Amino acid sequence: MSKSRIALVTGGGRGIGAAICKKLASDGYFVYLNCRQVNNQVLELADEIKSAGGRCRIIEFDVTNRSEILQALQNGFTHSRLDALINNAGVLKDNLIYQIEAEDWNNIIQTNFFGALYVFRFLEDKLLNADRARVVSIASISGMRPRKGQLPYAVSKAMLIEWTKRMSTHSGFESARFFAVSPGPVTTRLIMNTPWYKDRKSAQRIPLGRYAEANEIASLVSYLLTDTCCIKNGSNIVIDGGFMQTAKE
Ligand SMILES: NC(=O)c1ccc[n+]([C@@H]2O[C@H](COP(=O)([O-])OP(=O)(O)OC[C@H]3O[C@@H](n4cnc5c(N)ncnc54)[C@H](OP(=O)(O)O)[C@@H]3O)[C@@H](O)[C@H]2O)c1
Repeated sequence: MSKSRIALVTGGGRGIGAAICKKLASDGYFVYLNCRQVNNQVLELADEIKSAGGRCRIIEFDVTNRSEILQALQNGFTHSRLDALINNAGVLKDNLIYQIEAEDWNNIIQTNFFGALYVFRFLEDKLLNADRARVVSIASISGMRPRKGQLPYAVSKAMLIEWTKRMSTHSGFESARFFAVSPGPVTTRLIMNTPWYKDRKSAQRIPLGRYAEANEIASLVSYLLTDTCCIKNGSNIVIDGGFMQTAKE
């Protein structure tokens, strides 16, 4: 890589986001690691990245809070351009359709869809300053085939996938590339409290025979940012061990 590239990962403190931060730092990126609130886990992650020779800076904001995002970027984002924005922050709350409160709908859509949109909007100019910026949004196979109990989550991810497709042809963004990545179940805190996580049959329904690991998603994201990536702009890439072929509602 000739000149150092800059990436920002939302929800980078743990799970898939943390794996992406580590991978991109090891690829040579200067990584802005976003978290809602700095805690020991986030500080240890930043130390781990730096000890391995990587560069990163923690940037604290809640993706649902526009004034907080703006202030954090104004104070903490010091580069003139952004090469890669990874919309990763997300929340999940399973519930039966008739028991979903409006508040849960709002929180899930605000975080998973509008959170990505707000951060993108505030960083639009920096992305346009990059030669060929990439915006990778972590969606889900739920956004393509909703599972029982996941309606707000599924809707939020479907919105993210559709937004990605539309942005790829949006005038003014010809030089940028937009991708959605749709994982199946990944072993992170997000799904550990779901009723199906510990059910062995759940993993057995996946042709691969197991849930994915966060670093497998990070490797795909890393590839999407390379100059050799030939996946079509606007694509939604499924990484689910074949689960989409077998998943029931
Ligand atoms: N795990 C899976 O099976 C799976 C499958 C498909 C897609 N995904 C998607 O992958 C992404 C990462 O999830 P994960 O599995 O790594 O889950 P995770 O371990 O629960 O991590 C979610 C991350 O998002 C952050 N976050 C949540 N709300 C936020 C907000 N308002 N502002 C800033 N950050 C916020 C969390 O920060 P806090 O520490 O502050 O809560 C956390 O760092 C999500 O978009 C998720 O929908 C996950």
